[in-house]
Amino acid sequence: MSAGHAVVEKNVGLMAILILVVVSFGGLAEIVPLYFLKDTTEPVEGLKPYSALQLEGRDIYLREGCYNCHSQMIRPFRAETERYGHYSVAGEFVYDHPFQWGSKRTGPDLARVGGRYSDDWQRVHLKNPRDVVPESNMPGFPWLAENTLDGADTAAKMKAMQTLGVPYTDEEIAKGADEVKGKTELDALVAYLQNLGTVIKTKR
Ligand code: HEC
Repeated sequence: MSAGHAVVEKNVGLMAILILVVVSFGGLAEIVPLYFLKDTTEPVEGLKPYSALQLEGRDIYLREGCYNCHSQMIRPFRAETERYGHYSVAGEFVYDHPFQWGSKRTGPDLARVGGRYSDDWQRVHLKNPRDVVPESNMPGFPWLAENTLDGADTAAKMKAMQTLGVPYTDEEIAKGADEVKGKTELDALVAYLQNLGTVIKTKR
């Protein structure tokens, strides 16, 4: 055993410090590159940023606390994929800030609910779920049909997303307010729901 090695082995404090130095090299090698990468996840092919109306709908989804009962993440297990469709992949969520994965499932997962029902079904269901699912214990959200959007802060919301890396063009942002003005909150929420998980085509 070399003399240097003997010193380290007999001195616990020194050994702890040297272990820390060695381990931190490993940590740095993993962490430092992340500061220089713009994205760690590639968007799945065909993924588009939310339209202005869908983005407003998403904010209503957050405001009404839909995530308290609904997850948006299908796990890669047969019981899940048989029920909901293809399991969720990271590349589907790169434009979601913040993502709505969650784990609370009082109601079904909504990651692929887009296109599962008609717009009309969604409207009736959101106003009063019991009109279409008699045994449902989901609350109704009848005010969504009465509240109209004015688009006042739509562009600002899209700009914020742009800052976070969502590839909106300045032209899209400029048109954002016109796209939502006069629509109801229900229109926006249904537009959001009907888009969920539709990039990956699945048989159900
Ligand atoms: C208190 C819990 C609860 C809240 C809050 C809630 N839901 Fe639900 N949701 C349920 C339950 C339970 C079901 C299953 C019964 C039914 O279809 O109504 C359901 C079903 C659904 C379905 C049909 C899913 C499917 O695959 O059949 C959609 C869509 C939906 N909810 C959207 C929403 C949206 C949007 C919000 C917020 C505005 C919301 N839910 C808030 C409990 C909830």
